[in-house]
Amino acid sequence: MTTRGRSNSTVLTHEHVFLTGGTGFVGQAILERLLSSHPGTRISVLVRGKGSQSAQARLDNLLRKPVFRSWIDQVGEEEARRQFAERVTVVDGSLTAVGALPRGIDVVIHSASTVSFDPPIDEAFDTNIGGAHGVYGALLDSGDDPHVVHISTAYVGGIRKGIVPEARLDHDVDWRAEYAAARSARERVELESRQPDVLRRHLARARARHGKTGPQSVAAFAETMRREWVRERLVDYGRMRAQSLGWTDVYTLTKAFAERAAEELWADAGHRLSVVRPSIIESALRHPFPGWIDGFKVADPLIIAYGRGQLPDFPGLPDSVLDVIPVDFVVNATLAVAARPAVAARPEYFQVVSGKTNPLPFHRMYENVHTYFTANPLPDGDGEVRVPTWRFPGGTKVERALERRERKAARAERIVERLPATPRTRRWLDEIARGRHSLDQLRGFTELYRAYVRTEIIFDDARTRELLATLPAAVRRDEGFDVTDIDWEQYFQQIHFPAVTGMTRVFERRPTGKARGARALPVREDVVAVFDLEGTVLESNLVQQYLQLWAATVPRSRVAHDLIDVGLSLRSYWKAERRDRGEFIRTFMRRYRGFKVADIRREVRGRFGRAMLRRALPDALQRVLDHRAAGHRTILVTGSIDLMVEPFAPYFDEVVAGRMHERDGVLTGFLADPPLVDEARAAWLRHYAQQHGFDLSQSYGYGDSHADLAWLQLTGNPTAVNPDIRLYRHAREKHWNVLDWSRGAAPIPSPPRDEPHTTASSVREGADRAS
Ligand SMILES: NC(=O)c1ccc[n+]([C@@H]2O[C@H](COP(=O)([O-])OP(=O)(O)OC[C@H]3O[C@@H](n4cnc5c(N)ncnc54)[C@H](OP(=O)(O)O)[C@@H]3O)[C@@H](O)[C@H]2O)c1
Repeated sequence: MTTRGRSNSTVLTHEHVFLTGGTGFVGQAILERLLSSHPGTRISVLVRGKGSQSAQARLDNLLRKPVFRSWIDQVGEEEARRQFAERVTVVDGSLTAVGALPRGIDVVIHSASTVSFDPPIDEAFDTNIGGAHGVYGALLDSGDDPHVVHISTAYVGGIRKGIVPEARLDHDVDWRAEYAAARSARERVELESRQPDVLRRHLARARARHGKTGPQSVAAFAETMRREWVRERLVDYGRMRAQSLGWTDVYTLTKAFAERAAEELWADAGHRLSVVRPSIIESALRHPFPGWIDGFKVADPLIIAYGRGQLPDFPGLPDSVLDVIPVDFVVNATLAVAARPAVAARPEYFQVVSGKTNPLPFHRMYENVHTYFTANPLPDGDGEVRVPTWRFPGGTKVERALERRERKAARAERIVERLPATPRTRRWLDEIARGRHSLDQLRGFTELYRAYVRTEIIFDDARTRELLATLPAAVRRDEGFDVTDIDWEQYFQQIHFPAVTGMTRVFERRPTGKARGARALPVREDVVAVFDLEGTVLESNLVQQYLQLWAATVPRSRVAHDLIDVGLSLRSYWKAERRDRGEFIRTFMRRYRGFKVADIRREVRGRFGRAMLRRALPDALQRVLDHRAAGHRTILVTGSIDLMVEPFAPYFDEVVAGRMHERDGVLTGFLADPPLVDEARAAWLRHYAQQHGFDLSQSYGYGDSHADLAWLQLTGNPTAVNPDIRLYRHAREKHWNVLDWSRGAAPIPSPPRDEPHTTASSVREGADRAS
């Protein structure tokens, strides 16, 4: 048995352990080991509430995690619950607000940290340095004298070459000054982000991208861009500050400063401190079972991206050592460090690594991954991914090739965006998007992993091996951490790769997004199905309609003049349409000046109307009828004018169209109301649904243009029909239904007989008149 507060054993027996980071990867494994192999210990775990979940609920939920499965199988569910309830207590708090600690703590294992390589600088410092302040402050306040095991990382040594000793870091950076600067960075960047020049750039890009959707969308996008800009700047602050001080990234920088904080705040105050520095932690070799891992860890996104064929080459040094360590070795070493007698005010350092004693060069890791994914390829549509062969041409060459491919992809995207939207151009866009996604990933991985796969560092592990040698043989067998036991080929091929690819297969089987529409329509009366006209229900546009009507009504004397005039104006119409659909409609409808209402009515009820119906998309009209059969209120909403849409009225419960100003039966060329397009249509739909009690979250929207985005996204079931490139891109990103409807695929269905419908001919009436 050990003496409380002064452990002199090589294993933990009756200690009270305070654990931070117990919900994390390493923390869960430590908790499991304490419960399953150190039966006399009690554990207090620092847990914060998250969302609606209290800290206690989060702790209780831990027992359902796979890490506890073998222990529960061994002792039985009831006994496991009993022990968990008796031995594990929650300390409700976060690193920066730890609160009062329970009395009588013998050992602290401080594992909590942010482990992201590139968070914004203030977030990294707040968790890793503010967190160290919080934990050591609470310990000092408690008056107890526990042995603290501070989990750090082997990479705290920074950018260097050669052997790194298990010793205090050799630097004299004023970490307190760096902490203060990092904390004030957000305020400075937020101020900078509101400078007119910065806002002007965001606004210009937002207008180019969303001008057609409407002013609210432009403003919302500009603000999103400003926020992203702030985040990117703060990430850049972190990366650059770390590199300018000689560290790879803000993660390793803050972990280095956290060690210094632990030394100054705890060890220098006369307490016992041990620092454990693992390298890259991956799945368990043996315990709790081979291959246990909690989500993707550091090297796994790279492994999976390779398996998916997304990394044609990589700027790693083939002979650099990739230092990987199984999680159970880290847990075993940490508990051995916690149990060993430590001396007050003399911190000691243990590097839990593989690179010196059982090195794994990067090329050997690559060969392993290549062999595995060649034998076990990931699925790719109906086929399988063929993984690339890396040639290791050198970092600079790979990065230059990457830059060239990035430029090429950006050029291709710009060109395709300007082409008319057809199934073929949309396929091209998909291919470009897939290519860009791979490039973005490759760029991200190159930035993130550069230091880890080009490193010439070797971490010394002599002290850790000495500690291993002091363990009794039985403990060493079950809870050892001898890295010479690891056969890398066996570990990767039979344990680690199956574990991580198993996770991707689970993720891939999960349904993603809300591609709907193929399902039968639910019968209900509280939903609407809203259809746009041009491009969605009708394969014709305002210019074609005008020309047809004009040909039927214009006096012969005006033919030549009018044709030339339309021809000359087409370019400016096209430009207006790209900028703002409302502007286009307003400008184009001026051409109707002088048209007689009676002439238009006659044509619409005659030849022109029949021609319009011939150009209707049968699938669209059939879908309208399906919605009606399901009891949904079907509405045709168009920026066109009421006079022209009459042929479609019998299909819908309601038609909402624009109206033109007329004097003595002659059109003046002015609209009577602003055109019902983009955000105006969204405002109308919101108001309409509210007034008549329709549930938009269950409703349906069908549109073809980026201008339809604002109202389509109000509906729970948006469908992009023959979408233009920008709407298509949005629909793919949001997993909307995308349909190609064409003319001639089926006969035009007949409208329902004798069904009454409403034709509301203005924005205001549309909202007020529907029953
Ligand atoms: N994973 C590796 O490859 C690796 C390698 C070397 C060293 N390490 C070190 O090992 C330790 C554990 O890493 P890990 O992989 O287990 O990380 P992890 O899975 O991301 O877990 C991080 C843990 O820290 C907690 N935490 C973060 N911020 C907190 C805050 N403000 N207040 C309270 N708790 C907070 C998290 O709690 P929530 O659940 O509430 O978020 C979680 O329990 C870290 O010190 C890390 O630097 C890890």
